[in-house]
Amino acid sequence: FGTGVLAGLSVLISAGPTREPIDPVRYISNRSSGKMGYALAEAAARAGAKVSLVTGPTALKVPNVQELSRVETAEDMYHCVMSKVSSANIYIGAAAVADYCPETAANRKIKKNRPEMVLTLRKTRDILSAVSGSAERPFTVGFAAETDQLEDYARQKLAAKSLDLVAANWVGRGQGGFENDDNALFVCWNGGHTYLPLASKTALAEQLIRLIAERYHAQNSA
Ligand code: PMT
Repeated sequence: FGTGVLAGLSVLISAGPTREPIDPVRYISNRSSGKMGYALAEAAARAGAKVSLVTGPTALKVPNVQELSRVETAEDMYHCVMSKVSSANIYIGAAAVADYCPETAANRKIKKNRPEMVLTLRKTRDILSAVSGSAERPFTVGFAAETDQLEDYARQKLAAKSLDLVAANWVGRGQGGFENDDNALFVCWNGGHTYLPLASKTALAEQLIRLIAERYHAQNSA
């Protein structure tokens, strides 16, 4: 533990996409590169926190954190996060967890001899709600990635998932989001909100970590 706004605190962060297997060679996933989550992990470490990063598959270099766990599926990420949640003061869910996975994964490569194929998908477990509903609940931060009504959906998520703070980003609008080096955030909590304008994910992560530290200390000194 170092000095800084998060000195003495343990921060658990999820980052990157998950991969949901269809068969041994194919999977369903999304466009998350892991950049936002990794930038948050580095920023939290610089702010003095002990950081545990749970990451889906990414091409990024290993960040400077105390603990790194690599997972593949949403189910793996759920178990890994839940095994660490009781020792975390703060949880930040920056991962783009697949919302649905194939009901069954074929154990052999599916042959392409049919003109159409139908996949049945099943909803994955909501990690963020499980964290915020856990017995030793950490200060819980969720992300929201939206193509429209960003502020409304972010506020709804804050209430529906009993979160302490939501960081919402636009996707598909040239305002950062998935894959880009830059991002912009609308951040809300009970009783306030702020806008963090377009900046590098590194700079934005510094600002978001400062904001999270402020809200965490306000809540825990009350
Ligand atoms: O990785 P990058 O390329 O840098 O891109 C960054 C990002 C756009 C992925 C990131 O900033 C971001 O927005 N992450 C959350 C993406 C997402 O899945 O949003 P959502 O609105 O679908 O989910 C909302 C929240 O619920 C997220 O905190 C997510 O981690 C969580 N969730 C979702 C589904 C699920 N089964 N479990 C969850 O915990």
